[in-house]
Amino acid sequence: MLRPLTAPKSGPLKGKVRVPGDKSISHRALMLGALATGRTRIRGLLEAKDVLNTANAVTALGAEASKDGDTWEVLGRGVGGLKSPGGPLDFGNSGTGARLMMGVIAPHDITAHLVGDASLSRRPMSRVLKPLRQMGLEVLEAGRENLPLTIRGSESLVPIEYELPVPSAQVKSAILFAGLCAAGETTVVEKEATRDHTERLMRFFGADVRTEMHEGKTRITVKGDAELTGRDVTVPADPSSAAFLVAAALIVPGSDVTVESVLVNPTRIGFYNTLRDMGADLTFANEREEGGEPIADIRARTSMLKSVHVPAERAPSMIDEYPVLAAIAAFASGDTIMDGLAELKVKESDRLSATAAGLAANGIFAEVKGDTLIVHGTGRVRGGGTVATHMDHRIAMAFLTMGLASEEPVTVDDVTMIATSFPEFRGLMETLGAGYREA
Ligand code: S3P
Repeated sequence: MLRPLTAPKSGPLKGKVRVPGDKSISHRALMLGALATGRTRIRGLLEAKDVLNTANAVTALGAEASKDGDTWEVLGRGVGGLKSPGGPLDFGNSGTGARLMMGVIAPHDITAHLVGDASLSRRPMSRVLKPLRQMGLEVLEAGRENLPLTIRGSESLVPIEYELPVPSAQVKSAILFAGLCAAGETTVVEKEATRDHTERLMRFFGADVRTEMHEGKTRITVKGDAELTGRDVTVPADPSSAAFLVAAALIVPGSDVTVESVLVNPTRIGFYNTLRDMGADLTFANEREEGGEPIADIRARTSMLKSVHVPAERAPSMIDEYPVLAAIAAFASGDTIMDGLAELKVKESDRLSATAAGLAANGIFAEVKGDTLIVHGTGRVRGGGTVATHMDHRIAMAFLTMGLASEEPVTVDDVTMIATSFPEFRGLMETLGAGYREA
């Protein structure tokens, strides 16, 4: 059943808050914990549906993941030590969970049936299956490229060198996970750098992972037959969740919001760099390191935003933030042009058309031209429309942000999927002063 929600115009948003743990790092910490020997303790794990599905999958593969107080524990089986699951592995809405786990399973002599919800079952898996097949993974349903899929791993994976045809940290990570167990060195070549949490966390668990620049490309090499040891991991706060609170503070008059201890890894902060280009009053304070990742307290105050041209090269470092960027670009005067968005078409929904349609429903003219999105901002948003979210959590949150500064309330048709990544979204926005109402 759909659960609509309405965002009416808000008074000033004020306060200091924390958002939950980073989704990408949470998935990876569980998977590496499963492949390590001994106990891994994870503080700050994101307890959202996507990550809880990965925790269940890790348990089904023999590495028990459970919560003890405010810490998660994984009892690792060692690289190559996972066992066949008793039933299907259900990844729900999560592309990251499903794709990375294919790489985790690949070097094991086990068979696993992977399933997901309607959105995930439409998303392309061939991008991961192609390199993993080259290494020795088998897909039992010949010719199928979408979930549900049954895969069979192999204990004698062949190392490969693979240049990513699309900038995808999920594909890179799946290959590196498989490479942990291949006989030799596996190399992934990236033309555009994508989030590097897998590399950082693999090193932290004891794997030999090298990153080198060669002829303008990044080469990431993992040594096979790795031995990983259980670690204590602290997951920093998710910059992709913080983005909604920061965006709301910029557009709602009189706001002053600080989001504490947010991950500011350079491969993840394209959105914040873009906001600066738009003239946002944004500061990173108290910059420090936590668990091998840079973090900072991000403060945002209401700002007059300028339209900008976001270059295609920046897309990988802000790929999940385009819907909310488009929503607040509507409040800037002039055309905000976002190039290089082909990957947005294969996210939890076709985010390029879902974003343009959501804007149009609220009186903003937005155009999709090939892989480019153009938002014609007029400095004000009429609102009053209902946005189709297409089972996409970020479409829902982007428009529930936009509504807080629109003249008429903005309604989204369903908020159920917000639980996949950021269950605390509504509560935190309301702590700051927003007031949502059931539609
Ligand atoms: C993620 C990578 C990105 C991103 C997703 C999380 C990851 O996907 O959109 O939310 O954790 O590796 P792609 O690798 O498909 O770009």
